[in-house]
Amino acid sequence: MSRNVDELAALVRARAGDAPVRLGLILGSGLGHLAGAVEGVAIPYADLSGFPHAGVSGHNPHLVIGELEGVRVAVFGAREHYYEKGNPAAMRPALELLRALGGEAVIATNAAGSLRTDIRPGDLMLLSDHINFSGLNPLIGEATDARFVPMGDAHDPALRASLRASAEAVGVALPEGVYAWYSGPSFETPAEIRAIRILGGDAVGMSTVPEVILARFLGLKVAAISTITNMAAGLSDEKISHEHTKAMAPLGAAKLERVLRHFLRHLR
Ligand code: HPA
Repeated sequence: MSRNVDELAALVRARAGDAPVRLGLILGSGLGHLAGAVEGVAIPYADLSGFPHAGVSGHNPHLVIGELEGVRVAVFGAREHYYEKGNPAAMRPALELLRALGGEAVIATNAAGSLRTDIRPGDLMLLSDHINFSGLNPLIGEATDARFVPMGDAHDPALRASLRASAEAVGVALPEGVYAWYSGPSFETPAEIRAIRILGGDAVGMSTVPEVILARFLGLKVAAISTITNMAAGLSDEKISHEHTKAMAPLGAAKLERVLRHFLRHLR
């Protein structure tokens, strides 16, 4: 943990108050508007040293600290992806800050392509596990034995059970599946998608996995939800593009918001 994190935490407390944060939320492509649902203080990433601020279109580069359904949350409106600058640990300052503010858990969200015919654009998928198809790791270079993070239950079983129960309560289908991290920024080829399917992937995307690894390294519980924006390459005639991702993400975002609100209302 660097000194920078203490300075970041002091800055956030000075602007947003001392009350500890319970949960972090990382918003994926096209989901940035969820930050607007939180009553609180928005801090531009540009004010937070070490935070990404160039960003990808469709993201909202602010940290919002405030209440959602009576729970104090830290909403990260944008993430830096590996493909932007080649840094798989780009979200480490954000996750360290979350922990320094008292956070115990983080829920990551993303946009993803589906490899399963029963999970369609506009649907949500809860990550039961992931495959690191990129071969990259945000802990490379970490000098201590803490780097040998067990990943057996990386996607927290209790958090997932609560999210599934909330989805059922609000009438949103939340199938579980395995997310494959592909570095991007080019999309996958149909042959790569066939390979990922054989390897056990249910959805594919360009984020989240490094955040899950970092969260476990830092002792944060973690769960992640994909909003499916398209069928993966070769599985439909629809053209895959970032524009399409941004246009489709709000469909899933509305469902995601209902699930998350219920989940927070019942967080113990
Ligand atoms: N592949 C990778 N990332 C994505 C996709 C996809 O098909 N859709 C949205 N993000």
